[in-house]
Amino acid sequence: MSDSQPSACTEVTLRVTVNGRAHTLETPVETLLIDLLRDTLRLSGTHPGCDTSQCGACTVLVDGAAVKSCNLLAVQVDGSAITTIEGLAAADGSLHPMQRAFSEHHALQCGYCTPGMILRGVSIVAEGIPADEQAVRHALAGNLCRCTGYQGIVDAVCAVIRTTPVRGGPR
Ligand code: FES
Ligand code: FES
Repeated sequence: MSDSQPSACTEVTLRVTVNGRAHTLETPVETLLIDLLRDTLRLSGTHPGCDTSQCGACTVLVDGAAVKSCNLLAVQVDGSAITTIEGLAAADGSLHPMQRAFSEHHALQCGYCTPGMILRGVSIVAEGIPADEQAVRHALAGNLCRCTGYQGIVDAVCAVIRTTPVRGGPR
């Protein structure tokens, strides 16, 4: 092997908590988060779409914030808590309020965008965005849907915002 040839890929050790379960993983340094989730952890609910950070199908929560997992190296989330669509329902199988709202408001058709839409919806609620159609449409701008026309998705997110107690508000 000549000196100019690239060396063997560098492996790194990652410690992440995914859907409440702690993992210590060895992975090549260039591994994308979406590939770690889908290929290493077999969590195929995180969908690849554009691979260029435009469609949002690959959205997951990292420490509660929505991120596009095609646009992040796995090493960048070392030490973080990640939630994928597989981790959203309660342990007894009951759906998360955002999942219920998507069902009740007919917010999906083919379902390809849906995991990313639901997780972005969860983060919109956490961000304190008001139950205002234009505000929610603006917040969802990074997530594309080719089927629904968006109205059901917007209605579902607004419905959850309206029924979620404000943090720090009256009990
Ligand atoms: Fe990540 Fe489209 S696959 S934004
Ligand atoms: Fe088909 Fe959104 S439901 S892409």
